[in-house]
Amino acid sequence: MSGGGCGSCGRRCSHFVITSGVSALFLWVALRSSKPTCSIQDFYVPILNKSDHSMGTRSNNSIFFDLKLDNGMKEKGVYYDNISLTFFCGPNTSFPVANYTVPGFYQGHGKQARRKSVVEAHGPPWEAAFKNVSNGTVSIFRVGLSTKLRFRIIFWHTKRHSLVVGANIEVNDSGKKVSKKGIKLKSGSPERGCHLEILLFSIGLVVISLQS
Ligand SMILES: *[C@@H]1O[C@H](CO)[C@@H](O)[C@H](O)[C@H]1NC(C)=O
Ligand SMILES: *[C@@H]1O[C@H](CO)[C@@H](O)[C@H](O)[C@H]1NC(C)=O
Ligand SMILES: *[C@@H]1O[C@H](CO)[C@@H](O)[C@H](O)[C@H]1NC(C)=O
Ligand SMILES: *[C@@H]1O[C@H](CO)[C@@H](O)[C@H](O)[C@H]1NC(C)=O
Ligand SMILES: *[C@@H]1O[C@H](CO)[C@@H](O)[C@H](O)[C@H]1NC(C)=O
Ligand SMILES: *[C@@H]1O[C@H](CO)[C@@H](O)[C@H](O)[C@H]1NC(C)=O
Ligand SMILES: *[C@@H]1O[C@H](CO)[C@@H](O)[C@H](O)[C@H]1NC(C)=O
Ligand SMILES: *[C@@H]1O[C@H](CO)[C@@H](O)[C@H](O)[C@H]1NC(C)=O
Repeated sequence: MSGGGCGSCGRRCSHFVITSGVSALFLWVALRSSKPTCSIQDFYVPILNKSDHSMGTRSNNSIFFDLKLDNGMKEKGVYYDNISLTFFCGPNTSFPVANYTVPGFYQGHGKQARRKSVVEAHGPPWEAAFKNVSNGTVSIFRVGLSTKLRFRIIFWHTKRHSLVVGANIEVNDSGKKVSKKGIKLKSGSPERGCHLEILLFSIGLVVISLQS
């Protein structure tokens, strides 16, 4: 039948359209490599709270924090490995005054998670911190976060990507962070890169679709 050739052309064309559509989707996902956003929503150092006179003994080493993990990515779920938090006080960023581990978990696309907790500081330079807040300036804390992430894209699990971010947090004599807004933890080095394995997969799909 004369319609056969036309039908097979139509089939081939639609095959091509579908494969290149799928390739384009994967290509877009592969190149659109982004990461979840981490921020400190709340930060409280009771010992620096001037109004709390029960703190007179200066023996309370607690630091309260509220960490927000925001997977704003529409197309990727995130597997977090254990998340390490390190806390520094003052100019010494070589030796943390406290550590905390948030157990790893899975976060679906578009989801947010909060982790509120408290750590006990070891050997913080409280005297310097008091000096800073008592003259109306701020005491500076640094929070560092590091973990490894795997992304789930449709059925795909990517390899692990490092996430290393941090921020300085200014605390005044209320014991609270000065900024009313959440403080975003940022990466020190510029972040580049894409999901190479998915990029190669989509290039493979394009090649196959061109051959058929
Ligand atoms: C500081 O201490 C006072 C007195 O204990 C308390 O009322 C206040 O809530 C504390 N501030 C914060 C930010 O918790
Ligand atoms: C330190 O102070 C806070 C707030 O008053 C309190 O919740 C916490 O239990 C205290 N920590 C210690 C170790 O006493
Ligand atoms: C993650 O942390 C938990 C304790 O919070 C620990 O038992 C576990 O071994 C850690 N997992 C890895 C892979 O380090
Ligand atoms: C940071 O603190 C540690 C331990 O207290 C000390 O050995 C080190 O010399 C300090 N480093 C700086 C740069 O102050
Ligand atoms: C935090 O962890 C680091 C590395 O594991 C360790 O060297 C340091 O002593 C810990 N600091 C505190 C205060 O637990
Ligand atoms: C407050 O003290 C800090 C150091 O403790 C100093 O750097 C700053 O200049 C002082 N500010 C005022 C207003 O005295
Ligand atoms: C005190 O303030 C100075 C100047 O802003 C800063 O360099 C230092 O890290 C602060 N110290 C503490 C313990 O916050
Ligand atoms: C300290 O910071 C808190 C939170 O931003 C704010 O409400 C308070 O007015 C500040 N206190 C001073 C003395 O600036």
